[in-house]
Amino acid sequence: MVKNMKEIQESDDKDFFDKIQESLDREMEKYYSRKTIEYFKNPLNFGRLEDANGVAEMKGGCGDTMEMSLKIKNEIIQEIKFYTDGCGVTVACGSAVTELVKGKTLAHALKISPDVLMNELDGIPRDSIHCAILTVSTMHKAIADYLLKTV
Ligand code: FES
Repeated sequence: MVKNMKEIQESDDKDFFDKIQESLDREMEKYYSRKTIEYFKNPLNFGRLEDANGVAEMKGGCGDTMEMSLKIKNEIIQEIKFYTDGCGVTVACGSAVTELVKGKTLAHALKISPDVLMNELDGIPRDSIHCAILTVSTMHKAIADYLLKTV
């Protein structure tokens, strides 16, 4: 008989599945930092702001898209959300960059580079550097959108 998730969680099989999860986590940690894995598994600031006054969408060379929406008041980023159909690293990058700039000035956010973001994540694989570039570029473009609307 096939068990549903609730039955598994309440049964002895839970130990079995926990062990599988631990094994998968250990495998992921060979390639990704704990911070990257944590942000990927539990993304922060994911979604779209309905009352944003700065928005941007960009497509990376890989074909994935990243969106940023910001609510800016008095040169401070009050709220920020990201949305992506991209890879796990991009989800981690979106989470980390939004945490880095939330509540900060536009000048501070514009100084965030892909290197700063990659350091924040304790490094990402070389093959994923374009994900950090896509994320930071989209955040900067959303600020530019706000500035162009308000100047
Ligand atoms: S954004 Fe496309 S692979 Fe990461």
